[in-house]
Amino acid sequence: MCGIVGIITDSEISIKNDLLKSLKRLEYRGYDSVGYADVQGNMEKDVGEISKFLDTIKDSKTSCAISHTRWATHGGVTKINSHPHWDCKKNIFTVHNGIIENYQELKKELSGKGHVFITETDSEVISHFFEEELKSKSMVEAIKNFIKRIEGTYAILLIEKDKNRIYAIKKDSPLVLGLAKDRFYLASDIYAFSDTTNKAIFFEDGEFAIIDPNKYTFYDSKGKELKKGIYEFTWAISQEESVQDYPHYMIKEIHEQPISTQRLINSLDGEQHDKITKIANLVKNSKRVVFTAAGSSYYASLLGIYFLNRVGVNAHTLIASEFHNFMLVDKDTLFIAISQSGETMDVVAATKWARERGAKIVSLVNVPHSTLQRMSDISLEIHAGPEICVAATKTFTNQVVALLYLSFLLGFSVNMQTIPKKIDYVIRENEDSIKKMANELYEKKDIYIIGRGLSYPPSREMALKLKEISYIHAEGMMGGELKHGTIALIEPGTPVIALIPGKDFDMYSNAKEVEARGARVITIANMMDSDFKIDVTINDGKFAILSVIIGQLLTYYIARKKGLPIDKPRNLAKSVTVK
Ligand code: F6R
Repeated sequence: MCGIVGIITDSEISIKNDLLKSLKRLEYRGYDSVGYADVQGNMEKDVGEISKFLDTIKDSKTSCAISHTRWATHGGVTKINSHPHWDCKKNIFTVHNGIIENYQELKKELSGKGHVFITETDSEVISHFFEEELKSKSMVEAIKNFIKRIEGTYAILLIEKDKNRIYAIKKDSPLVLGLAKDRFYLASDIYAFSDTTNKAIFFEDGEFAIIDPNKYTFYDSKGKELKKGIYEFTWAISQEESVQDYPHYMIKEIHEQPISTQRLINSLDGEQHDKITKIANLVKNSKRVVFTAAGSSYYASLLGIYFLNRVGVNAHTLIASEFHNFMLVDKDTLFIAISQSGETMDVVAATKWARERGAKIVSLVNVPHSTLQRMSDISLEIHAGPEICVAATKTFTNQVVALLYLSFLLGFSVNMQTIPKKIDYVIRENEDSIKKMANELYEKKDIYIIGRGLSYPPSREMALKLKEISYIHAEGMMGGELKHGTIALIEPGTPVIALIPGKDFDMYSNAKEVEARGARVITIANMMDSDFKIDVTINDGKFAILSVIIGQLLTYYIARKKGLPIDKPRNLAKSVTVK
């Protein structure tokens, strides 16, 4: 994960108002620590978020600097382990997103040559590697050697003290050059500079570039100069980026769902209609459809196969990080990757794997121009708008809405038009009782959520929300599986949330089985006496969306009662760009 930003100009930029402001836009990639280095050799770094860092450092001016916001992989969250890292003479500064897999071997080799390492990180080898190489080689030769020697993933920015130039190298981790009027940006994604320019050049794997104040040159891994096309993107900066009057982005984003689902439905009826119709035709004409995704997006994909199976489509899904271990694809397979960010490394890797085997690639993304979108044959945008809270809420819902729409085109019976109103109603009707329930549940150690069929994926999604935001151990499981082991954990008072769509009597029996053992059963159903009521009488898929929204609210109010850092929970990042 991690976010990196470099800026070079022939005039001056401010470290705080230009470099770190741009870096802040990448903080969703990790917020363990932050740091920067400039071409004069100034360097600051510290643990914690960028806003705190901005309060503690003095502003300065420079013409060239690099910066980093970290999600720790190798080495604890400490000041010394933060980026940038430097060489023995403090001449070479580097920031890195990715993992240097053979760092131990390189560290040993470089230590043998007298290099002194001061951090626990894998990334520190980069500066020392270049220090050693530059003793006898040019920078281009050193980079070529670096690409040959390094195993792992990387987007790297390197500067040398007193040289107004940035070197940028990429393999697997994303890297893009932004072309603004008076400066160049190098960043993990276009979001870092989309408020300043809409012109970008994306790095492909194995490429590197040398960026001077007025010119850039790209090379392939062998050092051959490349001609690269400039990509002009459109990016509407929306109102939704500010937290407005809400105390947290999470609750704002939950409340936005009637609007964000309506926006998607309008777009699927309108400008994206041809695209989704093409996808529906591909589904119809493929022998098999396989989905892949991670986390919440995976639970959305589970719902996707539930809907598609109902209309006779041979559809499967598998978590992206295990895709190559447990799934087969061939040229007759339609592969559908779902990813809010479009950058999740596991999803990107599974997609590459499927593409190499001849599968047709479709993706559903929220972030336009993302890596996944750029590698797809067709990419549908879910139009949830920027989601700032680390937890997926409105993006999950819009993924499900998109999948419902696709299934509808293939014969699934659902009235799409009523979705936004139903969401609005569910929030208004239940929010107060959810707050009360949060007061009852916030000190619990474990919560179980059970579902069947349509309500099984929501049980998983709710459990994930409770874990990541409320820090409560939660398990979402199939109602029918409970009695095969997990029921042993039910004690008097253990909360079990039962998701009962329509007249699912088996689900109702599963709830009764745990109640008989003393569980505190909480029901989400369309029944008069249920704890939270969902006003849907037919099983057209909406129950799944609405029950998850109740889970989002419950999670939010539990976390708030516990005083937790709701929008930036510990150890997490919004975009997971490591395997
Ligand atoms: C949970 C959450 C994560 C993401 C997962 C995949 O609230 O946000 O589980 O769903 O990391 O991310 P994307 O959808 O960006 O591929």
